[in-house]
This record gives sequence, structure tokens and C-alpha cells, in this order.
Amino acid sequence: MTTASAPGKIILFGEHAVVYGRPALAIPVTQVQATATVSKNSRGGIWIEAPNIALSCELSSLSPDHPLGSVINSVFSALRIVRPPACTVYLQSTIPVAAGLGSGAAVTVAILRALSAFLGKPLPDEWVNKLAFEAEKLHHGTPSGIDNTVVTYARPVYFIKGQPIKPFRVGAAFTIVIGDTGISAPTKESVGAVRKLWEAEPFRWEKIFDRVGEIVWDARQAIERGDTAELGTQMDANQALLQEMTVSSVELDHLIQTARKSGALGAKLSGGGRGGNMIALVHKENAAALAEALLSAGAKRAIVTTVQPK
Ligand code: MEV
Repeated sequence: MTTASAPGKIILFGEHAVVYGRPALAIPVTQVQATATVSKNSRGGIWIEAPNIALSCELSSLSPDHPLGSVINSVFSALRIVRPPACTVYLQSTIPVAAGLGSGAAVTVAILRALSAFLGKPLPDEWVNKLAFEAEKLHHGTPSGIDNTVVTYARPVYFIKGQPIKPFRVGAAFTIVIGDTGISAPTKESVGAVRKLWEAEPFRWEKIFDRVGEIVWDARQAIERGDTAELGTQMDANQALLQEMTVSSVELDHLIQTARKSGALGAKLSGGGRGGNMIALVHKENAAALAEALLSAGAKRAIVTTVQPK
């Protein structure tokens, strides 16, 4: 039997503009995890058990483009396994779906790792990332690759599409409170909506994406210096541009305003937007109170995560 887990993620800065080649910053969220366990079975065939989504079936009964089936098949192809042994792939996840927390990428990465290890050929991170990106492309339209990258390497990343990840220094610990609107919002739809805006007025949007790129760069330097006040200012600036991209929502704006009124240093949506999660930067000692304020304002859950200096 083999087991592998992968964390959720949040985008700190640069979502959407990252699809157009600008940099973005993301961190893993280890409080939520997807886990895959692969074990031998005696009934024959490859079985998938995913109680969270009420799925229990044989791989061969799924359509070839099913998200879970296609990931399992990609492992067999990558390892050139023509007749895979009978086994059961059991999936569990505490990551909310379609909430901007990287649930799809985490499930994919967990399957790739657990299944390749079960087959005696554990895939290296580079391969896991590559195959997870292929899965993202199949199901999310035109992804940048940031979700699979941060989930695979499980560390903060400064990411530019198509380039190797660049490690960066975290000068001082900083704390983020994640507030979930509880509204499910598929990333594919918000990415498609931004694409329509860009297609209609490419010149205007390229300038806005450039501005996001500058914010991401300034934020990275603020993180390296340990300058949390500046980091908060950049979060607010990024949120204003996300609003212009039409990917915020009444519920996100309400939680963001609540966070700012409750002492956050800055706040913005995180991920695809139009639902899903917002994030707020706080002094660590205020995190619990801010999480309470978000819950009272209607958040379905609040997670506190601290990024340690490195
Ligand atoms: C989703 O987590 C981030 C987006 O920028 C999409 C992507 O980069 O693929 C909205």
C-alpha cells in the first residue's frame, strides 16, 4: 500500500495576470490536504473510491477525459505500463472544491505520487509537476501552471509561466487569514471572462497586467525585507486591479471590507475569484479575532496560516 498527500494553495499576488506572462506569488496551505492511497485488490481491475464526491467505480467505466481517470492513465503512460496490476485508488480531501484553494491540482499530485510509488517507480517532482500541468490544461482551459507548481513543490513560489520556479527569501514571518465565501466558482469561468476582456481591448489589459506585474515584484521585495506594512499596501493595490478585471464579487468585497475594518494590513481575493476565497494579512496576535470577524460576516470557514522566514 502507498499513500501520498498534497497541500492546498493560495495565490498571494498576481492571479489572472500570470496567465498573460506576468509573475505571481503563491504559498502552500498545509492545513488542508488531498490524500491518495493505492492498495492491491483481489476483485481485479483498477478501482477508484472517492467518498467525498460519491464516486466508486472501475477506471474502465469512466470516459477517457474524466479528471481522475485521465490522471491515473497518465501515470501508466508515463511509466510505460501496459497491463497495470489490480489496485484501488482511494481518495480523500479536506480542500474545498472550486474555492481557489488548488483542490484539483492537489488531488492530481497525490494520485501521481501514490500510484507511481505503488508501481515501484516513484515519479520525481519535475515529472509530477509536468503531468499535473497536463491535467490542469485538460480541465481548466488556459492555466498558467502556478497551481500545480506550488502544490507539487509545497513551498512559496515566485512563478512566471513557462519558467523554472525561482526560490525567494522570506525575511520575516507573516500571517494570512483565509476567508471562504462558500460560493463555488470554477477557475475556468473567471479565466475565460478575463480572456474576453483582453480580446476586446488587448492594449488596455496588457497595461493593467503590467501594473499587476509591478505589484508582484514590489510584494516579493517586501517579503524579502520582512516589510509587512508594505505587503499589505500591495495587497490592496492588487485587489483594486482584480475588481477592474471583474473577478471580485459582492461577497468577496464584503469579507475584504470586514477584514480591513478589523485591522488587516491589506486584503484581496485569492485565486480565480467571483466566489471562493479572500485573504487578509494580519499581525499574528490579531489573527484569531480577524478569523472570528470574517465568520460573523458570513464566511463559511476561516483558516489561519503563517509563512515562516527562510
Ligand atoms: C488560479 O489559482 C490562478 C489563475 O491565475 C489561473 C491560473 O493561473 O491558471 C486565476
